[in-house]
Amino acid sequence: MIDHSADMANPAADEPPYMHGLNAPQREAVLTTDGPVLVLAGAGTGKTRALTTRLAHLLATRKAAPHQILAVTFTNKAAREMRERVGGLLGVPVEGWWLGTFHALAARMLRRHAERVGLKSDFNIIDTDDQIRLLKQIMEAEGIDNKAWPPRVLMSVIQRWKDRGLTPDKISRADAGDLAGGRLNLLYKLYQDRLKTLNACDFGDLMLHMLTIFQDPAHADVLASYHHQFKYILVDEYQDTNVSQYLWLRLLAQASKNICCVGDDDQSIYGWRGAEVGNILRFEKDFPGARVIRLEQNYRSTPHILAAASGVIAGNRDRLGKELWTAAEEGEKVRLIGHWDGEE
Ligand SMILES: Nc1ncnc2c1ncn2[C@@H]1O[C@H](COP(=O)(O)OP(=O)(O)OP(=O)(O)O)[C@@H](O)[C@H]1O
Ligand SMILES: [Mg+2]
Repeated sequence: MIDHSADMANPAADEPPYMHGLNAPQREAVLTTDGPVLVLAGAGTGKTRALTTRLAHLLATRKAAPHQILAVTFTNKAAREMRERVGGLLGVPVEGWWLGTFHALAARMLRRHAERVGLKSDFNIIDTDDQIRLLKQIMEAEGIDNKAWPPRVLMSVIQRWKDRGLTPDKISRADAGDLAGGRLNLLYKLYQDRLKTLNACDFGDLMLHMLTIFQDPAHADVLASYHHQFKYILVDEYQDTNVSQYLWLRLLAQASKNICCVGDDDQSIYGWRGAEVGNILRFEKDFPGARVIRLEQNYRSTPHILAAASGVIAGNRDRLGKELWTAAEEGEKVRLIGHWDGEE
């Protein structure tokens, strides 16, 4: 059970304006600044608002300077909104912080350390079409039939390996199965080598290369410098992180342990965008003593929508357990249409 202590439920009169209107668990998410915090809640329960206010609070109380906070959002648009909202809450624009998507943040890091993985700092980031073209060339050179093995299909397997933090040396002949005649592990290696020769990387590499650097004792100084820099880590839409993004966060947070992730543990179980619900379930294991906060008041939906959603969600095996309630008036009855299989 969460103990909403008196000062959180009944804020002092001299409370800073950015805290106004927050409910008790949101306050708890803002004020529990030190140690690992996991905020779990459904859609429209004010998760992002709590995270944004937490950011404002860290800056306003001078617990950290802007460059000492790493804040991860799921889209660039969300990053812009957060920048504006925090600026609005504090009344001054904030400069020099590390706020952005996983891709943008990893790219920014990799530009600084590119030579550690054999790239130059002006490396190119290639798009999907170029990825396919490159793989096709390699397949031709290796005499692998691209009618029997469409490069697009093979590339999606390679990408999944990357999303799980697996570099070519971690992929065995057995992992390749019969893909590309049992040679997909080889194609993956050749593809990575070719990218390096071209001073290029794909989107998956941004995170993968940073993991390689962080995990190599020869480059321990790099991770140490980020441990020194980042006092606080904040993550929105945590349910959508893949394994490689999770490992990156875990490595960065292992020194300070001040990591706050907010996520929707129901959304991810629907399997949207191939999310890894295991990351939510693992958080409490990897960060012992993590404070888990549940936001259960919904500010967007009406009771009928919530009842319909709970009926579906209750069947989820891995569900961590939380209820949604809303103070809004009852709305139109909702009919469920089966589209929680990622077909949206
Ligand atoms: N304590 C509150 N009192 C009143 N309104 C609130 C409160 N917290 C959040 N809201 C409003 O509820 C709406 C949803 O908030 P927010 O975007 O933070 O939720 P969320 O849980 O992040 O949603 P999503 O699941 O879409 O990411 C916003 O309009 C926000 O201003
Ligand atoms: Mg949100």
